[in-house]
Amino acid sequence: MDNKKLKLYHELACWWHLLSAPEDYEEEATIFKNILLQSCPNLKTLLELGSGGGNNASHLKKYFGITLVDISPEMIKVSKKLNPECEHIIGDMRDIRLGRVFDGVFIHDAIMYMLTIHDLRMALETVFVHCKHGGCVLIVPDAFKETFSPKTSHGGHNSQIRSMRYLEWVYDPDPDDSTYITDFAYLLREADGSIHIEHDQHINGIFSRREWLENMKSVGFQVRIVPLEHSEIESGLFNAVLGIKP
Ligand SMILES: C[S@@+](CC[C@H](N)C(=O)[O-])C[C@H]1O[C@@H](n2cnc3c(N)ncnc32)[C@H](O)[C@@H]1O
Repeated sequence: MDNKKLKLYHELACWWHLLSAPEDYEEEATIFKNILLQSCPNLKTLLELGSGGGNNASHLKKYFGITLVDISPEMIKVSKKLNPECEHIIGDMRDIRLGRVFDGVFIHDAIMYMLTIHDLRMALETVFVHCKHGGCVLIVPDAFKETFSPKTSHGGHNSQIRSMRYLEWVYDPDPDDSTYITDFAYLLREADGSIHIEHDQHINGIFSRREWLENMKSVGFQVRIVPLEHSEIESGLFNAVLGIKP
């Protein structure tokens, strides 16, 4: 099982902001900014790994100088349009080495594409080598093993010329392994009114709180899990992994 051919991040990347619009991220980006500044009041430079279409960055860039890394050249192109003032780099969070350190490192939902403990561990090592001593790391997985529940949701947006609606179906066929599945159905309406439908299956990784804490510690971070409050998410289900590099 792998995610090499995900349509959303490759041939459909130009639809990303109609699935997930920058304005939808304002509340959570404010939460992330506040935690980062509480942990590291002098934080000025931030590395985001798996930055996607740059939605978080479109808010965080008002406070920090951000370098954005994503494995998909198509998503980097989408993000560059939204965030032309940010540095963009194509790379894999498991092995990219930029040869410099940042005041903070941030990974949002892209961490869900680490499918094994080995992958997770590689991403955490990347985070560690790019974080300065005394700097902080904020990682926001969609769920831990303990907080996962199957769900179905839908959404989408209109632009002046095109529109998209999607259905997202999240389920876990084998709760004993480290993955679950997100199936997407996309309805894509073109400027001439024609509609086409695409299906995309994303495999996501999921780990327990203990696995998160153990791996963050063994990479070298001081770590804690921080509950977050968001107006649209049930209390207790939104959590971040917050680390400090001693
Ligand atoms: C859900 S999107 C992230 C959206 C982002 N939170 C935003 O603000 O727009 C997930 C991203 O993770 C990226 N990704 C998946 N595996 C990756 C890896 N190994 N290294 C870097 N990026 C990765 C995908 O290309 C995709 O752009």
